[in-house]
Amino acid sequence: MRSVNIGLIGLGTIGRGVYDAIIQNGNMISRRAGVSLSLKGVCDRDPRALKGIDKRHCPVVTDSADELIKDPGIDIIVELIGGLEPAGDIILKSISGGKHVVTANKALLSARWKEIFEAASRKGVFVKFEASVGGGIPVIRSLRESLVANRFDKIYGILNGTTNFILSMMADKGSSFKDALKTAQEKGIAEADPELDVSGKDAAHKLSILSLLGFGVDVPGDSIFTEGITSIGPQDLRNASRWGYSVKLLAIARDSGDGLSLRVHPTLIPSRHLLSGVKGEDNAVFVKGDLVGEALLFGKGAGRKPTASSVMGDIVEIAGHLANTGRPSPVFPKLNYDPDKKLKDMEDLNIPFYLRFTVIDKPGVLAGISSVLSENKISIASVSQEERKSGKQVPVIILTHSSREGDLRKAIQKIDSMDFIKARTVVIRIEE
Ligand code: HSE
Repeated sequence: MRSVNIGLIGLGTIGRGVYDAIIQNGNMISRRAGVSLSLKGVCDRDPRALKGIDKRHCPVVTDSADELIKDPGIDIIVELIGGLEPAGDIILKSISGGKHVVTANKALLSARWKEIFEAASRKGVFVKFEASVGGGIPVIRSLRESLVANRFDKIYGILNGTTNFILSMMADKGSSFKDALKTAQEKGIAEADPELDVSGKDAAHKLSILSLLGFGVDVPGDSIFTEGITSIGPQDLRNASRWGYSVKLLAIARDSGDGLSLRVHPTLIPSRHLLSGVKGEDNAVFVKGDLVGEALLFGKGAGRKPTASSVMGDIVEIAGHLANTGRPSPVFPKLNYDPDKKLKDMEDLNIPFYLRFTVIDKPGVLAGISSVLSENKISIASVSQEERKSGKQVPVIILTHSSREGDLRKAIQKIDSMDFIKARTVVIRIEE
């Protein structure tokens, strides 16, 4: 049986999961795939990460990525260090050395996919990235293979486990954002530095990859309109629930005919929507295609074993091609890049909104707010003032009918400058 040699760079949570999977499931994989996987070397800059590596399973243990990249016996480099650099350099050097690459690096792919895939195409090597979006959920393969014949209207979903865990805990237990984040960190769900997650950037990087595959657009994650979850309070989740909604951080790509809208933000969705039932660190991606109709992909969006499962799938796929043909598939998978695809301006989005104003409870306040909304062509669907505290601060909640985002922003800016407004108004978009 042909043996395919792997060099694993980055032995953090996911890297360890891949190491364990090769060792524990290696024989089963060989039987299934007809190819033997051999871990030739592992690399990490932190000596603590390399502790306990069994040299019988993995002869090369090093802190130098170059040692693996330059090793002529290695067929596939698995990059699991994340971030832009040195990951970018490692991947490009591996490609130029003729090695196939497997990566989970959404930040890098979302920023530099063109350069990476052009280099891979020139060299005739694979770059596989199933683990970059949705952890263990096979979303990349589904879009590129099973669903490739579809014209998509929508691809949207919950693409970040940390924020979904936090919002679920705030909704179900009434926890504050801070306490829910602390629990997520204690459970090992959130990173020590959760900025990428709570700011929505991690989800934006993933959306950038999905929208390249599904709609052919080249929009780096950092250019996608992104709002995180830090301004959402437990009261917003309670209010939403009273009106029959839950709040989720959604990543949305929607082609409405007049352009593709890409955005990541907290969103009110009806409680009966399937995504409302996606709790904790789970992820789910909805796609709507002209052939398949609606399809939902659901599963663990993060974590050692689920993410390792996706990385292993990529490794085995490449290994299978190498064992069977000795070279990559003749139909080298193309990315569906469409430079002419029109993007929709966020200001032209037309959707309903949830607004939480913090006001002084006194005559004329509601009239003041509603007249500015009306001046800006925003129509009110429901209003509620939950507390009565004459002369004191209270929340007023307004749900609007579908309104233009640009008009709403103008109205909120004006309202927030009024003397009875005591805190920045919380605006959450609604998807029906
Ligand atoms: N930190 C991410 C999440 C997983 O919480 O979903 C890696 O992208």
